[in-house]
Amino acid sequence: MGERGLRVIREFQSYYDDLNGVRRAIVHRIPGAPGQRWLDVGTGDGWFALEIERALFPRTVVGIDLARCEVELARQHAQESNSQLSTFIQMDAYRLGFPSGIFDGVGTFLALQDICLDLPSMHRLFEEVNRVLRPGGWFALATTTPEDAETPSQKLALEIYQYIRAGFFTKVEIQEALERMGFQVEQVEFYPTGVNLDPEEAKAFIQFECDWLERAYGWRNGPDWRAVWAYFEPRIRALGGLEVDAKVTFFLARKVHPVKPASELVVDLS
Ligand SMILES: C[S@@+](CC[C@H](N)C(=O)[O-])C[C@H]1O[C@@H](n2cnc3c(N)ncnc32)[C@H](O)[C@@H]1O
Repeated sequence: MGERGLRVIREFQSYYDDLNGVRRAIVHRIPGAPGQRWLDVGTGDGWFALEIERALFPRTVVGIDLARCEVELARQHAQESNSQLSTFIQMDAYRLGFPSGIFDGVGTFLALQDICLDLPSMHRLFEEVNRVLRPGGWFALATTTPEDAETPSQKLALEIYQYIRAGFFTKVEIQEALERMGFQVEQVEFYPTGVNLDPEEAKAFIQFECDWLERAYGWRNGPDWRAVWAYFEPRIRALGGLEVDAKVTFFLARKVHPVKPASELVVDLS
């Protein structure tokens, strides 16, 4: 998606559901074929899985998420969109409860930074994705790469995300991890979303992000949103707002070889 057609999104309540059509634009770049099985990892409220269902004419789409409240939201959105093919299950991305080689494609949209805290955990995730993909299957990974933030307001949004909960990986780290875990990267593209929250919307965003951890996982030791807002408010006001989720980096990769689990590796002692 180019700059043309990019509208500036300022409503905190709804910006994330649509993200200026970026999920749709990305799904249309996937060379999937009708009748395939797709998995959406860290599906959240299900929007990426539902775009896959609409665009790729699959046999089935399974969305999985660790948070029960997100799975329930995804099911509700599926019902409202008259989805016939998408199913949502509470499951851990590191222990996918599916046989090896069962999926033709795996997608994940803005979830890598929530699922993986460090490089070893990203390797574990990609190994598990590799396992459930058939040979030649697609891995469509959309995330945020911090070095590609373009404005002080985009950089500040990433700093706030990192302060509250998320870790980010650079393009090089992601590409190397993909290649190490049996994938070949075919494409890397950028998608602007046009999100630019005004200071009051940014405050609502910070409150939502801080409270979400307790709502989703029952964590009580997360940061207090008032303290986070007080800390960042002067810089947000000086910039006139906050460009949250403003730029998405999309990797399209293909499984080129399997990665054997460690227990299956044969140690050559000769
Ligand atoms: C920002 S949301 C995902 C957004 C969603 N993919 C979309 O298109 O709107 C990130 C999600 O990752 C999920 N998540 C974090 N750790 C996970 C894990 N180990 N397994 C599965 N899901 C996980 C969170 O519960 C959260 O719903």
